[in-house]
Amino acid sequence: MEKFRIRGGRPLAGEVRVSGAKNAALPCLAATLLTSEPVELHALPRVRDIVTMERVLAALGESCERANGTTRVVAGRGEAHHAPYELVRTMRASVLVLGPLLARRRRARVALPGGCAIGARPVDFHLEALARLGAELRVESGDVVAEAPRGLRGAEIEFPRITVTGTENLLMAAALARGRTVLRNCALEPEVADLAEMLAGMGARIAGAGSPTIEVEGVEALDGTAHTVIPDRIEAGTYVIAAVLAGAGVTVTGCRPAHLRALLDVLGEAGVACDVAADAITVPARTAPPRAVAVATAEYPGFATDLQAQLLALATRSEGTSEITEAIFENRFQHVLELKRMGASIEVLGRTARVHGPTPLDGTTVMASDLRASATLVLAGLVARGETVVDRIYHLDRGYEAMEVKLNALGAEIERFNPGPYR
Ligand code: EPZ
Repeated sequence: MEKFRIRGGRPLAGEVRVSGAKNAALPCLAATLLTSEPVELHALPRVRDIVTMERVLAALGESCERANGTTRVVAGRGEAHHAPYELVRTMRASVLVLGPLLARRRRARVALPGGCAIGARPVDFHLEALARLGAELRVESGDVVAEAPRGLRGAEIEFPRITVTGTENLLMAAALARGRTVLRNCALEPEVADLAEMLAGMGARIAGAGSPTIEVEGVEALDGTAHTVIPDRIEAGTYVIAAVLAGAGVTVTGCRPAHLRALLDVLGEAGVACDVAADAITVPARTAPPRAVAVATAEYPGFATDLQAQLLALATRSEGTSEITEAIFENRFQHVLELKRMGASIEVLGRTARVHGPTPLDGTTVMASDLRASATLVLAGLVARGETVVDRIYHLDRGYEAMEVKLNALGAEIERFNPGPYR
């Protein structure tokens, strides 16, 4: 099992370019199921979740050919409709194929995603909303079995709680439903608007994407298209925080600063003023520790839950006591125990972590538990005294393209190694 060995204390300087957004690429890949025409997707990140989604599409009869940064997806014969458990269990976002399969093939069998390290993460909102569009759903030996023999029909739907992939699933289903669908209490994340832009390029009739209410006029069929996914705002935010932690002047390029407003505001409160250009964020060299902050995660445009762990690592090196509240997921403090093993002073009270700083961190062996927690352990290793070994970095590879390559190009000293099968 691969690990990272990180030698701490190396200052980061220079430029790092972000890749395409994993959480935009996943729904856009699922949307290729809505057409029999070829689709070209550009800037998909080379990360494990994308490979998994390509495998799910292959199991559904589609072929994904990648060349020079472009992925060309060609539909197959089109009757396959089963997304198997062995793929879905490794990535809950596979549930995104449910809506498009129902909309175009009128049936779907998708393994119910299990929970994961950060919480139960049910998909009840997706299923209830698809039933409103006329789908007949049942659970059969761990799979969701869904049918819409007469096709889907438009409906008015209000999500009980904001759900990113729930909004995306229903947007895709409604694109081919008969008549008009109104989706209320939708997610505002940029990845939703990016999917809507791709669907519009295919001929879908959508109004209001990126706002709480989205209206869709269903069409008979959708064409192929070419679409470039937006830059990854979470990867960008991760490197911005790394630059605050260990930076001697770092510019994160190829990003959309407007998607990181909440992070930039929090850093401003901490006394870190970043320079913002059209597609870049520059973090100046640090002279004094950042100030402690009080932040609660929230749906976009609030502070992203996917940056909570990274901010917590920064809080261990900030002056004072920070309070970081995780309001989206019920169990997203797995990284706290590992940071405490490195010397951090943190108490978790319910959904709030109180972090006292600055405390020196000592390198040791730590274990990644989920995608963003593993990024946090790498960031902590960058500023820890001595050597940090991060185990189970397959979590990291799910959502960060060549993280050690990008950080080493900034001056970090990270080695990816595999100690062999039994250690
Ligand atoms: C998306 O997950 C992202 N994944 C997550 O990123 C991100 O953390 C999350 O949105 C929140 O921003 C992708 O886009 C592929 P939700 P999603 O549905 O859609 C509850 C990463 O690190 N809920 O918005 O699964 C749910 O349990 C990943 O890249 C239900 O109860 O999240 C959670 O508490 C991690 N029933 C809250 O709503 C449902 O049917 C928000 O979940 C759906 C959700």
